[in-house]
Amino acid sequence: APDISVAAVQADLAQLQSIASSNGGNRAHGRPGYQASVNWVKAKLDAAGFTTRVQSFTHSGATGYNLIADWPGGDENNTVMVGGHLDSVNAGPGINDNGTGSASILEVALAVKATGFKPTKHLRFGWWGAEELGLIGSTYYVNSLPAAEKSKIKTYLNFDMTGSPNPAYFVYSASGQPSGSARLQQVLQAYYTSINVATELTTVGGRSDHAAFARAGIPVGGTFSGAEGTKTSAQAQKWGGTAGRAYDPCYHRSCDTTSNLNATALDRNADAIASAVWTLAS
Ligand code: PHE
Ligand code: CA
Ligand code: ZN
Ligand code: ZN
Ligand code: ZN
Repeated sequence: APDISVAAVQADLAQLQSIASSNGGNRAHGRPGYQASVNWVKAKLDAAGFTTRVQSFTHSGATGYNLIADWPGGDENNTVMVGGHLDSVNAGPGINDNGTGSASILEVALAVKATGFKPTKHLRFGWWGAEELGLIGSTYYVNSLPAAEKSKIKTYLNFDMTGSPNPAYFVYSASGQPSGSARLQQVLQAYYTSINVATELTTVGGRSDHAAFARAGIPVGGTFSGAEGTKTSAQAQKWGGTAGRAYDPCYHRSCDTTSNLNATALDRNADAIASAVWTLAS
């Protein structure tokens, strides 16, 4: 798998920050900063040869959008899907939540093109709208799929907050998730083992877009660097950072800007995504 350039991910985050700044300070559902974010990601994918589609939905009186990008080729009956939400809360630009996941999966998608990867399985990426209002976009997408299309998706990996400033290295626990999720947990853990970084399992339950896929019986996995929770002293000993402080003190606040990031966590998670995609789609 390729080593994803953290500088490229950071450059994408600077773009998302600039989109928020020129659109009232956020990238929230129903706001111009959200639509501008979709357009910007879509243009990069189109230029790389992805087949993209924007799916519209309505929620609380505003139109929302999901961006879906297919890499042509591979066995469509065995589709590996990777996603994250592109919307922010109203309060701020949403750079860690979830510019990080959005930009990281974008760079992994662009690396598919750049490396000439020919996955045996079909690869699809998704950027969800209105996650912050209750997993609205991802739920709409899953519910919009005919049963035959749903059953072709054999894997869904979700990335929501991967560069928290006081980071944890959490891998989604497969426990309580559809069968097949254990493999996804293992593949992500194996990447971290290979770079000698300890991980902990976390039960993310219904808190992000993977839940829409899990409800449809699709195996799910992901990584997460932490939100409003507090880093323990044991965690600070193994991961560094500050015990007794939130993983992301700017969670859902106006200070969730490009200053609200840990570049090492951002880099490791981007590389973990690439490793998992290459392993699972080969
Ligand atoms: N989905 C939460 C949000 O966007 C963040 C989160 C992700 C929380 C994963 C727990 C696990 O605000
Ligand atoms: Ca890297
Ligand atoms: Zn609604
Ligand atoms: Zn989020
Ligand atoms: Zn959020």
